[in-house]
Amino acid sequence: MRVAEIRKTFLEFFEKHGHTVLPSGPVAPQDDPTLLFANAGMNQFKAVFTGKEVRDYTRATTTQKCIRAGGKHNDLDNVGYTKRHLTFFEMLGNFSFGDYFKSEACAWAWDLVTQGFGLDPKDLYVTVFEEDEEARAIWRDEVGVPADRIVGLGEKDNFWSMGDVGPCGPCSEIHFDLGEAHSCGSNCALGVCDCDRWLEFWNLVFMQFEQHPDGSRTALPKPSIDTGMGLERITQLLQKKDSVYETDLLRGIIDRIAEVTGSPYEEGPLGTPHRVIADHLRSLSFSIADGAYPSNEDRGYVLRRILRRAARYGYQLGQERPFIHRIVSHLVEEMGEAFPELRAQQGLIEKLIQSEEEQFGRTLKQGMQRFEQEARGMRDRKTSVFSGEAAFFLHDSCGFPIDLTEQMAREHEFSVNRVQFDKLMDEQRVRSRATKSFAASASTPVHATSTLEVERPTEFLGYGLLQAEGVILGVEGSKEDVQVVLDRTPFYAESGGQVADTGVIEGDDFILNVTDVQKKDGVFFHRASLVSGKLDSITEGASIGAQVDPMRRADILRNHTATHLFHAALHSVVGTHVQQKGSLVSPERLRFDVSHYEKISPQQLADAEGIVTEWVLRDVPVAIEQKVPIDEARARGAMALFGEKYGDRVRVVSIFEGPLFAGEAVRSIELCGGIHCERTGEIGAFQVIGEGSVSSGVRRVEALTGRGSHSRIREDADLISSLAKRLKVRREDLTDRIENLLTENKELRDGKGAAPGRDCLVELEGGHGDRDTVGDLEWVAAAWPETPQDELLRVGDALKRRAGGRVFSLASHGEDGVRFIVGASDSVANKRVHCGKIAGVGAKILGGGGGGRPDLAQAGGKEADKLPEAFAAMKSALRDQIGA
Ligand code: ALA
Repeated sequence: MRVAEIRKTFLEFFEKHGHTVLPSGPVAPQDDPTLLFANAGMNQFKAVFTGKEVRDYTRATTTQKCIRAGGKHNDLDNVGYTKRHLTFFEMLGNFSFGDYFKSEACAWAWDLVTQGFGLDPKDLYVTVFEEDEEARAIWRDEVGVPADRIVGLGEKDNFWSMGDVGPCGPCSEIHFDLGEAHSCGSNCALGVCDCDRWLEFWNLVFMQFEQHPDGSRTALPKPSIDTGMGLERITQLLQKKDSVYETDLLRGIIDRIAEVTGSPYEEGPLGTPHRVIADHLRSLSFSIADGAYPSNEDRGYVLRRILRRAARYGYQLGQERPFIHRIVSHLVEEMGEAFPELRAQQGLIEKLIQSEEEQFGRTLKQGMQRFEQEARGMRDRKTSVFSGEAAFFLHDSCGFPIDLTEQMAREHEFSVNRVQFDKLMDEQRVRSRATKSFAASASTPVHATSTLEVERPTEFLGYGLLQAEGVILGVEGSKEDVQVVLDRTPFYAESGGQVADTGVIEGDDFILNVTDVQKKDGVFFHRASLVSGKLDSITEGASIGAQVDPMRRADILRNHTATHLFHAALHSVVGTHVQQKGSLVSPERLRFDVSHYEKISPQQLADAEGIVTEWVLRDVPVAIEQKVPIDEARARGAMALFGEKYGDRVRVVSIFEGPLFAGEAVRSIELCGGIHCERTGEIGAFQVIGEGSVSSGVRRVEALTGRGSHSRIREDADLISSLAKRLKVRREDLTDRIENLLTENKELRDGKGAAPGRDCLVELEGGHGDRDTVGDLEWVAAAWPETPQDELLRVGDALKRRAGGRVFSLASHGEDGVRFIVGASDSVANKRVHCGKIAGVGAKILGGGGGGRPDLAQAGGKEADKLPEAFAAMKSALRDQIGA
């Protein structure tokens, strides 16, 4: 049976028994902070089991993408070494939410396994929780499994829970006996050893409890069923293979790895690298497709570790350059049909894996060499404890996660000194925390913690009003730093990236200048300084008028609404993986951090800017809805901040009627508590001014709107005009002019080329300098300001080669004196004329020295103003030499 048929048989079997077939949940769930990765089919039904959520079906069946590489269920260290462990696998499952229970679950499972899939009952065993007599009796009496094939085991094996918290219950597992040949020896028995002979392939969990963080368990509203069959394992059995890696799900990928690396595959220990890479490639690809990327934190770090393990196995296969990304296309061919998200995100998966490989590739070799060096030293010293310092070096300087070092150590039968390693890590953490908190205190204003106790939440009027009357409920502080709490306020308190409003609070006898507003538990603290009046006239119960600075507020709104538009535009232009990682909305500018693995190209930025501009020109209304049920908002595609906790009802900001990009209308819909323009036209102008990296995988874009953009455009225009004026060209010729200047500059630096804009030979021909006849020879003397020696020599060379006899002196003068050459045509030099001597005469007058050959001499002096005199003296020296 091919794998596609196995999936289908399972799902159709349960569909026939009244189950709703549902798609897999994401492998990287976004809404369950207790889970790094989906680790079982039941994850997406957690709230249904606990009764928090009710659906319109009570039976469901799925094939779920799972990763077990961290948390309670972690198979990372086994992968590649056993025949059955994988970090990524598919779990086929059937679920009952308070509907059927043990009897049906066991009977159907047995029916499907023995009838549907045709496995021989003689090869099968079941385990039950040792206290679960009911399950034992069902298998024996209702299903007909021989009593000696039912094994009772303890909580460790037969009590399943999702994690430290969540639904759980006793379970019953179906095992296949692969036979004596796979046995680990005389102690080999189901539940006793952990060898490859007993292949557990289906777990039926009788969900009855919910595990709580404090360790207690409470009963679920109704007993339920959760089962999980490993697709790779049942495939191994049905395809009569020796290992999950031999099935059509994995063997093709392994062959492709062999092809790309040029290292043939072997089923035994030598094939470990191929198996690990094949498995890890699946984990990485499916995670990336579901929006989880390698990084330095949380699940991202698990992925980075997985990639680095794979890369290190690649190194063992002789791969020092990125190669894993080249296998992605093969995986997509094999699994893209069942999981279209792989196909949709193929480009992203390849790019991310390649860039991770490149990053680690820079230090991998050095790390491997360091490891080997350490291992050699250890052998000499006859120790088997790998030092914590070396492990720290590998971690810190070569990017080797500690579990990778530990695994490499295990292969040499070493252990790593974790105590020492952890100590070094702690020390480093303290160091980096010290630097960070310094940075924080240096850059962010510290708000004096208020001791004001006001319980009543402040009524916020600022969505509609800039001005309001109110009453002071609390006050404290000094003249320069007053904190005031009002019963109601139009001032927006800093939140969601939007900075606080500023403005004034005016009482009968005082005026306060509000510089910041922070809120805590719904109470707004206005921080201000006293502009006029007395501090003691600001009292509780005093009536005030509050006025927000309207211009500044308008600037902030423009930047906030533009941030939403830009976010949506980036989604369209760069990809849907782009997620907001942070933002700052101030009056001057907006700053927006997004997840993306490489530079956002100038073209992409220009496209996104174009989309926003188009929106501005269309002057589209901004729709704000209060108290939308969160599920409904999400169903409508509202973008939310990853990891942010939202209430049941949320505020939704939608801006539609966006322009088309690649044939699709761009729309913006976000959960947001901030203040916005009423229409996009108010933004006025939108302009991206910078893009850069904040940390690995996070890019920062800065942009301007409205008045900020206008000032910037003005500054840019002034800059261009002044440059054009300075370079004496029209603005459209600026680029060409600068190009020319740069080329000339480079040539000059390299000692080639003429002084900018000057060709001395042309000038000479145009009449520059002195020409005379001395006897039968021509005398040429000329001087130019600041001219390179090369140019003088070039002109001299041309004069030498010209017909007729000639002697010349060419000079360059500047602040630091004169340099000159004297030369003669070949026909006269050496015979009648000695240039070196002529030059000596000139140099003397100029207060310097020099000389040279009869045909060419170079000299110089300090006194540039004596140049005419020097030329005259040289002319007469020539006359003397030839006796004219
Ligand atoms: N949730 C159960 C398991 O993962 C079926 O084994």
